[in-house]
Formats: sequence, C-alpha cells, structure tokens
Amino acid sequence: MAASIVLWFLVLWFVLYTSDCAVYNIIHQTPSDCKKGELDKTHEFFDISQLQCQPCTQNSTLQTVSADGLRCVCKNGMKIIQDFGGASIQCEPCPQGTVTSSNGWSCVACENGVDPISNQCNTCQDKNVDGTKQSRNIGVERILNGSWAESPPKRICETCDLETTPNSEGTQCFRCNQILSVLPSRTDCVCPEQNQAPGGVCFQSPDDIVEENQQLYKVEFQFHIKNCACTS
Ligand SMILES: *[C@@H]1O[C@H](CO)[C@@H](O)[C@H](O)[C@H]1NC(C)=O
Ligand SMILES: *[C@@H]1O[C@H](CO)[C@@H](O)[C@H](O)[C@H]1NC(C)=O
Repeated sequence: MAASIVLWFLVLWFVLYTSDCAVYNIIHQTPSDCKKGELDKTHEFFDISQLQCQPCTQNSTLQTVSADGLRCVCKNGMKIIQDFGGASIQCEPCPQGTVTSSNGWSCVACENGVDPISNQCNTCQDKNVDGTKQSRNIGVERILNGSWAESPPKRICETCDLETTPNSEGTQCFRCNQILSVLPSRTDCVCPEQNQAPGGVCFQSPDDIVEENQQLYKVEFQFHIKNCACTS
C-alpha cells in the first residue's frame, strides 16, 4: 500500500516537473477594436498573422488604414517612400501645391487646381471656365511609354477624341460601343435624350423604348387541377 502511494507521488512529480508547461494568453481582437481617429495619434491596423491590432508606424497626419483595416496607407497629399505591407510603410508629405500621384509613389501638380478638402486634383470634367461640365475630359499623368506627360510632373486634362468617352475613373478614353452600335452615324458618344431609356441604355429609335406601365408586370397564368389516380 505504502509502496503504491510513493509510486503515485513519483509519477506526479515526474509529470509536473518534466512537462514544459506554460500559460498562453491570446487577446481576442477584431478589426473593429483597432483604434482610429485624431485622438489616438496613430491609427491601428488589424494584423491577420497575430489576430491583433498593431499601430501604424507614422501618426495620423501621415497615415491612415486601408478601407478593410488590414494595412496602413499614406493619406492623400503624402507619397509612399517604402511599402513592405502591414505597418512597414513610410510616407512623406508632398510639396505645397502638389498631390499624391495616381499610383501613390510621387507627387504631382494639377492643371485644374487642387481641391483643398480632399487634397486631390479637381476633376478635369470641371475644366470649362463658365462652370459647365466638360464630360469628355480625362486626367493624365503619364504618356503611353511611361514618361511623365509634363515635367515637373503634373496631372493634365485631355479631351477624348470623337467616338470615344472617358472610362468611369476618368483616366482613359474608350470607344462608346453601345451608342455607336445602335446609332452608327453619331460621332460624339452622346445618346440623344429621346433615344435613352432610364438607366442610360441607348436605343435606335424612341419607338423601341417601352413606356413604364403597371400592365408590364402582369403575368397571366392558369391553374389546372387534374384528378389523378394514385397508385401507392
Ligand atoms: C506626426 O508626425 C510628423 C512627422 O514625424 C510630425 O511632424 C507631427 O508633429 C506629428 N503630429 C502629431 C500630431 O504628433
Ligand atoms: C517617351 O515618349 C516621349 C514623347 O514621345 C519621348 O520624349 C521620350 O523620350 C520617350 N521615352 C523613352 C524612354 O523612349
């Protein structure tokens, strides 16, 4: 009996003193726990490798976090000096009168002036002095071979050629296929009002556009009940 008690103590001692026992505390955080805002001085991003919030390396004057909260990014008006992902990004303010280039790595002046609120170039579509929109303009920083369009770098406004129209980002001109395929005689990519259905789709003739009407959504159906001889 005594021998077996001694044996049990020996086993217990062996288990306690040879097991490499440690207590790990895992702080459970989600992206919504990460601090944001002027008061915190630096923003925090959510580091998915640690499942924890980590501070950005520079304060909120220079850096903020990406829309998904998973990395730090330079604010508008800053340019990237280095970017290895996560917090490993370094930003530097652009010189007075310039803004962040479209790829984030340079600073550019703006032909159409700087919007002081967004700290970005005014859209080229507001180019006309009389305040009317020039919807055929795009903002261009570089020409096709990659050279800056101007030196020192400046985002300039270019007007799209006939039969082309700006893409949604206002950075390139593309052929307006939909309009030209139904109205081949046009050159200006503007669908006449009477040929336009709600939503902007262009039709060949105003007669092709169906008027909005309650009857459009009425579906006739008939319901037949058959007498069936059930077999089971
Ligand atoms: C943020 O950092 C910049 C550059 O290090 C510094 O000049 C500025 O004073 C800092 N701003 C605040 C609010 O700490
Ligand atoms: C790119 O094109 C511009 C204008 O045509 C030219 O001045 C410049 O030398 C070109 N760059 C290279 C690397 O060929």
